[in-house]
Amino acid sequence: MDLDAFRALEPWCWRAPSAHNTQPWRLRYDADAIRIGWDPAHTLPAADPTGRDLRLSLGAFVETCLVVAADAGLRLEYAADHDERHRRVGWLRPAADRYPTPFRTTDVWERRTHRGGLAGGVERDTLAAVDAVARQAGGAVRTVPPAGRLGALLRAADRRLYADPTVVAELRRWLRLDPAHPDYHADGLTDRCLGLSRPAATGLRVALAGYPVLRPLGLPRLLAVAAGDPLAHGGAVLVLLAPEHLDRPGEVEFGRVLLRNWLLLHTAGLAAHPLSQLIDVPATRTALGALLDVAPHRLLHVIRVGRPLFPAPRSARRTTDRAGPAPVP
Ligand SMILES: Cc1cc2nc3c(=O)[nH]c(=O)nc-3n(C[C@H](O)[C@H](O)[C@H](O)COP(=O)(O)O)c2cc1C
Repeated sequence: MDLDAFRALEPWCWRAPSAHNTQPWRLRYDADAIRIGWDPAHTLPAADPTGRDLRLSLGAFVETCLVVAADAGLRLEYAADHDERHRRVGWLRPAADRYPTPFRTTDVWERRTHRGGLAGGVERDTLAAVDAVARQAGGAVRTVPPAGRLGALLRAADRRLYADPTVVAELRRWLRLDPAHPDYHADGLTDRCLGLSRPAATGLRVALAGYPVLRPLGLPRLLAVAAGDPLAHGGAVLVLLAPEHLDRPGEVEFGRVLLRNWLLLHTAGLAAHPLSQLIDVPATRTALGALLDVAPHRLLHVIRVGRPLFPAPRSARRTTDRAGPAPVP
């Protein structure tokens, strides 16, 4: 039965991206379908109060499950059935055919967030391809004009977020700055993935531990400066735009669009680095909307994209198979 066979594929499905690498998805195997829900303990109420990134992450997981199942020859489809009260987004269930996708499990396995050096931008054809994927769902992908203003917006967004004790406390919970951390290989953001040297990781750990005392002395500004300027690492900045009206189930659907586009960029030899702070902070979101001449509520996801100058480290997962994807039958 395809539902049972899916169980063995879970380690690859868990390679889906999620904000702060919380891996909020949960699967429950029923007799005739697999329920996809989420665990509130793995959400980000301070950094993601509207749940936008939660639903994008859940949609990315749904699409990842479909790609992995199709590549293994399983005939599964997804039926959306959003229920906030019961923390459910929908069901994977048996289908007549395999899910149609150009992507493979190896793409899922190899895709990763790249926070380091990226060369060049995005070729016209690739840009048209990601825009076409978003347009099929009523959205669009736009390039942010390469101007100095974006750097100032990023600094302002980082300062604003580091000034909020609840956001910082939540971030601390998901930071894995020391390989001795018990969850270093399970979840969260590791020093390696963040590109921090040992002294930098230790410095950040100490600064965050002293946050309550140091905050009034200007620590948020220092942390924002220490976070550096991601734009200095190159690449073009792309924005995923939602249709004018997008409800919560629609955000999950756009998580599927996000993943399709991330895999599309990956298979084109490009890597992506999300810059969500720009749309998490209302003032910078408004300013970015003005830069693009679109209503701020349509901004869903911002990424820096380019050709990676070196491979990015692989992030942790709670369910892992370190051997990589099984051979495709
Ligand atoms: C909706 C969403 C928002 C994200 N926002 C950020 C972000 O603002 N900054 C960042 O560095 N990474 C961001 N990420 C990337 C995650 O941190 C990353 O997916 C996770 O750590 C797992 O790593 P991987 O993508 O290499 O598998 C985001 C990912 C998703 C799905």
